[in-house]
Amino acid sequence: MKRYEQVAKGLTGQIEQGVYLPGERLPGVRRLSEQFSVSISTIMQAHQLLEDRGLVQARPRSGYYVRTTLGRLPEQPAMTNPQPEPAHITGQQMAMQLSRATRQPGMIQLGAAIPHHSFLPTRAINRALLSVTRHQQQRSAGYEFPPGSAELRQQIARRMLDAGCQVAPSEIIVTSGCQEALALCLRTVARAGDIIALESPTFYGLLQVVESLGLKALEIPTHPQHGISLDALKLAIEQWPVKACAIVANFNNPMGYCMPDDNKQALVALLGEHGIALIEDDVYGDLAFDHHRPPAAKRFDTDGKVLYCSSFSKTLSPGLRLGWVVPGKYREQMEYQKYITSLAAPTLPQLAIADFLQRGGYDRYLRQVRGQYARQVARITRAVGRYFPEGTRVTQPAGGFVIWVELPENTDAMAIFHRALAKGISIAPGPIFSAARKYTNFIRINCAQPWDEQLEAAIALLGRLTLAQPD
Ligand SMILES: Cc1ncc(COP(=O)(O)O)c(C=O)c1O
Repeated sequence: MKRYEQVAKGLTGQIEQGVYLPGERLPGVRRLSEQFSVSISTIMQAHQLLEDRGLVQARPRSGYYVRTTLGRLPEQPAMTNPQPEPAHITGQQMAMQLSRATRQPGMIQLGAAIPHHSFLPTRAINRALLSVTRHQQQRSAGYEFPPGSAELRQQIARRMLDAGCQVAPSEIIVTSGCQEALALCLRTVARAGDIIALESPTFYGLLQVVESLGLKALEIPTHPQHGISLDALKLAIEQWPVKACAIVANFNNPMGYCMPDDNKQALVALLGEHGIALIEDDVYGDLAFDHHRPPAAKRFDTDGKVLYCSSFSKTLSPGLRLGWVVPGKYREQMEYQKYITSLAAPTLPQLAIADFLQRGGYDRYLRQVRGQYARQVARITRAVGRYFPEGTRVTQPAGGFVIWVELPENTDAMAIFHRALAKGISIAPGPIFSAARKYTNFIRINCAQPWDEQLEAAIALLGRLTLAQPD
């Protein structure tokens, strides 16, 4: 093999492993000639070969970029088509099975959307916790009653500017994670029997709250790249007395899309016209693969009817149990709801995270972890393309760390869930993402796991389990 062919082979391997992602620029010729210890003309020949093979494309005066559509990436699923009829939800206990699986030692965690600890800035957080126990002993032992620590709310208010939202610290209420924020919002804006419009599929934690409060879920068709269908939502609102709508617009769970800003604005306007509250869950908003933090739908709120929820669970650590809500015009009721539910969010993490954010470094950490998640998603998507049966479709998220996989028709995702669990692999089966238990041939995969041979073998095994299914 000639020297330039060896270089091309090396670069192909790096692209396949996700070192360079679709759309990313390869290092310049000088840098590559140093890395491979070859001449610049050898690098240029290697580039030419990769271009001929369709792996990269040249952009004038800019360099070589990995093609955005690499041949082996599976297709994306189509727009969803749920029956838009309000339904009481039953049987969300399956989600508890999933959460139990996360506690089993040795289990490969592709189920719950929890980042592996190796991606989290655990040491820096522990340092901040220690510092608070040393320097704020008395305060850390007491309650931080709602709305929560002033220092933390100030730091959150600063971060919310990145999401396009100008919010005063007094408008923020600290919660025990985003899950509590969502529950408080639903309890504030709706009563048993009310109808809540949801994306379909939707995050199962939200469905559980809807079920527990005796609310009815109205599943709205959703596009895998643009999010909830505004036309379908409009029709549904005309037909049913919808009380609130709940969405994950930025790096949706499970589909990964980022709703275009115009759609966010149109959604807020549509709901505003009908006096319907919007509950926005933005837990993945900081995790854009292209490092551009998208605005929240809250940014387009003009009358305080958007209730914004988020947390540090997907970025800093789920164990902190720290989230927040910006409840707009519902602030007083929400503060009271928080108080009667759990009196206060834990004090120590509030003070420690305020300190951590104030010291800086969070943005640096985000830049690093976004790249890591982008690579994980690319690697696992490619592995699914390699090991799963023909006809498998996979979403292409623009951020976050989950992928939504459509298996060939008639594949039973529940059967695969149980059989994978018996082999030490947890996945999230499609039906738990739907009030009507649709998506029987879908699974969601958590990609925030370190890539190694064991993980690749787990994806290969899932592929075999799928192949063994009748279809
Ligand atoms: C979309 C979404 N919202 C909320 C949560 C719950 O977040 P927290 O751990 O902060 O309660 C999750 C966790 O999986 C999630 O994916």
